[in-house]
Amino acid sequence: MSRVIIIGSGIAGLFAALRVEQAGHEVIIITKQRPEDSSTNWAQGGIAGILDKTDGEGMQAHIEDTLSCGDGLCDEEIVRCVVEEAGDRIRDLLSIGVDFQKDGDDFHLVKEGGHSARRILHAKDATGAEIERALNNAVSTSDNITLRPHTLGVDLIQRVHGDPSKGIKGIWCLSLDSGEMESIAGDAVLIATGGCGQLWERTTNPPVASGDGLAMAVRAGATSKDMAFFQFHPTALMAGNNRPFLITEALRGEGGVLLDDKGLNAYRLGDLQPEDYSFTLDFSPDGSLATRDVVARACDQRMKISGADYVWLITDHLDKEELHSHFPTIESKLNEYALSLGKAPLPVAPAAHYMVGGLSVDINGRVLMANDSPIPGLYGIGEVACTGMHGANRLASNSLLEAVVFANRAAEHFISESVNNIENVPSWRAEGMLELEEHAPLIRDLETLRKTMTDDVGIVRTFNRLERAKRMLELLSKEVDLIWRRSIPSRELVELRNLVLVATHITEDALNRKENRGLHWNKDLI
Ligand code: SIN
Repeated sequence: MSRVIIIGSGIAGLFAALRVEQAGHEVIIITKQRPEDSSTNWAQGGIAGILDKTDGEGMQAHIEDTLSCGDGLCDEEIVRCVVEEAGDRIRDLLSIGVDFQKDGDDFHLVKEGGHSARRILHAKDATGAEIERALNNAVSTSDNITLRPHTLGVDLIQRVHGDPSKGIKGIWCLSLDSGEMESIAGDAVLIATGGCGQLWERTTNPPVASGDGLAMAVRAGATSKDMAFFQFHPTALMAGNNRPFLITEALRGEGGVLLDDKGLNAYRLGDLQPEDYSFTLDFSPDGSLATRDVVARACDQRMKISGADYVWLITDHLDKEELHSHFPTIESKLNEYALSLGKAPLPVAPAAHYMVGGLSVDINGRVLMANDSPIPGLYGIGEVACTGMHGANRLASNSLLEAVVFANRAAEHFISESVNNIENVPSWRAEGMLELEEHAPLIRDLETLRKTMTDDVGIVRTFNRLERAKRMLELLSKEVDLIWRRSIPSRELVELRNLVLVATHITEDALNRKENRGLHWNKDLI
């Protein structure tokens, strides 16, 4: 029996855990908060995929939509593999107990931006929560899976210190309950820690999304790829002072339309269809349902021109009852602000949503070094990984699909290697380190980091702004490093250290790009 350590409890981590455990191996999952505190749990829209293996035309269309959304940078072999394995993996989810919405005997399918057909399975507007519920339920009844909540991965332990080619033998982690550092030994580590939306002031991501896994792997010799491509979701609700709340793109799939103030006035006075007044038509003939990069940029531009903090999402031309029944989570959130679907316009604005780049991995999720060789015993799956599936821009609802396909592939690879080579792992060296007395400097540094990323590394960039961000990040990196070297780790310190490193990778990749593609948009390159 081999032992795998999985970091993260979203769809990728939990699915891989079940696969590995079914093959008779031991699994330890560590997760920073509660098991369900993951980006998966917050995913609304759904999972794209063709269930019928004989539907070659449907699969080809899914492949083409993915390639076209990825703006020429997808790896076609990976896209084909993910689309072709979709049916089997979705059936796996069904057999684990995920309850996707039905329409009679068939699944009810929705459409989102960039999709040429309805091919997204969903559980109303809480698809991720339903997947998370079923997977956590299965994990909690498995004998060979130990799930450790409130445990934060801090660093990977290399078999030979300083030589990634010799592989990984475990992790150091921080128990957030006891404040103690621990070492855990394993034959392999699967990183499934999701993204890093916490880098920006406005994000649809949960608080756990601080790039921990990516930073840990990079420190252990892994390579990051395509980091400049960070996806902003066009429609996060701007109401109250609370965190941005995602309004699923599926709502636009059902006919929701984006308007600016001018368009809204014209719509109120005119007699055309609402979409005819949408500013998004100036950016793409697909208007409000164009791909996310285009729609987010369109919103950003209109907000900058008008000085408004938001644009409008209108749904008053749609069937109220149907909207309330399809989107109950959104409706109940809106009600908190005296808003409702099918009535007054909703104020929305883009928010940081998804890390398209990530750890460079191969077709089995093995994390690669700079020379493209895998680091033995290290896998990256889900949002943390850059597989080549999404290219320069991810197609809506392809992320849960990619996560489950690669979780399966990584698990199968681990099982087939079936190494059994647990070694002793060293304790965390804490001599001479002090308890961090004041967290205030860390909080200020985090604010500075978020402001820098929001102002200088957002939807629209310039070389000057990126250079400015780079200088600021160098300063922050030195500050955090100073504190890190003399302090016993705390959650705040670990996360800030990781966020600064990930921000540096994003900014450097953006600075190195000589053309605008997909989500990377530099005004100096137009
Ligand atoms: C959404 O529901 O709009 C988000 C789905 C996704 O990010 O793919």
